[in-house]
Amino acid sequence: MTDTKKSIHGEWSSRFAFILAAAGSAVGLGNIWKFPYITGENGGGAFVLVYLACVLLIGIPIMMAETMLGRRGKQSPINTINALVEEAGADKSWHYLGWMGVIAGFLILSYYSVIAGWASAYAFKAFIGSFVNADATEIREIFDDFIASPMQLIFWHSLFMVATMLVVVRGVNKGLEKAVYFLMPALFILLILLVGYAMTTDNYYQGIKFLFSPDFSKLTGDSVLIAMGQAFFTLSIGMGAIMVYGAYLPKDVSIAKTAFLIAGTDTVAALLAGIAIFPIVFANGLEPSGGPSLIFQALPIAFGNMTGGWLFGVLFFVMLVFAALKSSISLIEPAVAWLVEHKGMNREKACIWSGLAAWLLGFGTIFSFNIWSGFKIFDRTIFQLLDYLTANLMLPIGGFFIAVFAGWIIKQQHSEQELQMPDAQSYQVWRFLVRYVSPAAVFFIFLHVVGVL
Ligand code: PHE
Repeated sequence: MTDTKKSIHGEWSSRFAFILAAAGSAVGLGNIWKFPYITGENGGGAFVLVYLACVLLIGIPIMMAETMLGRRGKQSPINTINALVEEAGADKSWHYLGWMGVIAGFLILSYYSVIAGWASAYAFKAFIGSFVNADATEIREIFDDFIASPMQLIFWHSLFMVATMLVVVRGVNKGLEKAVYFLMPALFILLILLVGYAMTTDNYYQGIKFLFSPDFSKLTGDSVLIAMGQAFFTLSIGMGAIMVYGAYLPKDVSIAKTAFLIAGTDTVAALLAGIAIFPIVFANGLEPSGGPSLIFQALPIAFGNMTGGWLFGVLFFVMLVFAALKSSISLIEPAVAWLVEHKGMNREKACIWSGLAAWLLGFGTIFSFNIWSGFKIFDRTIFQLLDYLTANLMLPIGGFFIAVFAGWIIKQQHSEQELQMPDAQSYQVWRFLVRYVSPAAVFFIFLHVVGVL
């Protein structure tokens, strides 16, 4: 692969643009909606600790590997992997790796868009004043009525999917890059304001204690798997989203620095969300293990009862929708880029087809909250199954093979040249992590879950 080659889809205008886009992909519903509720379901502190360890030992090395592979291949993940397989003279079965990522992206987007639809509906509800002075019971009723209605969920899901596709159609520089410039700072400001509010509740320390004081007896095999899955999900790794963004990265950018920055931003966002939400949960007698509805039950109570709550409520949910949008565009980009490269489609057509497929698939998730709520496979609703399959299985498996591919298959000289680490030792540390530590950690956690270990 020559160094002068550029991606046909465009290139980020600067290092900062890539960081914003990749951090934009990382920080999303995973941080603000999912992290609090799975932390609540899995007992708090000990779970958070395992998650943080996974981010550090598995997440960051794999994020670097993905970015590096993307920048070397300069194409959609499927074609990037194919090209690198050829370059390394490796076995053709590696081709499946790119494919699995595209499929995982579709499956995730199908339910991601439904939940982002909830956030959109809540922005609207906040705007029309539905939460003003409402108590916990009324907020609960609003939520229950809402998810009981397939038509409402379909409406908001459709709206969000159309918005995603409109951004993706515009391509790397115009669409993806512009969308994230003002969103990240705004989101952080609102999270910090919410933390400020949480500090005024009587249960602030109870919330902090729940998040940060580990009780290892609460940790089960499954919660360790969920914590690892969350590290993959929240960092957008294991399926090619970061790889495809890496393909648009100019060649003189330090990959290590950007990976630390992105993972750091993402982790701070999740912790801020947790610090904001749990005090509100405890102050209002809600259950931390309330499931996917947690933030939709807890936050409106806060907005309904604090000074300026109407405005903060509207701003917060609008921000949440935009945060989700920056992530959803990266979920579909690998598929769109591939359709453009391989099928010679134009970007518009590629967006319409892939968006339509994910939109249709989303109906499974929508119905699992109402008319099909009793329909279970392996004791899980369709939404729970999709979530478990993608976040806890497909992403870690994808990440495992990405690490092996980057550490064992491609030539050392190539990864060294592409990563441009500041010194030889840090390169060796990374190489050790992707060759041994990250794959072994994923492998042992899987063994642990199936009961072998
Ligand atoms: N990281 C995103 C979030 O936390 C979700 C995501 C997963 C995006 C995988 C892209 C790829 O919301």
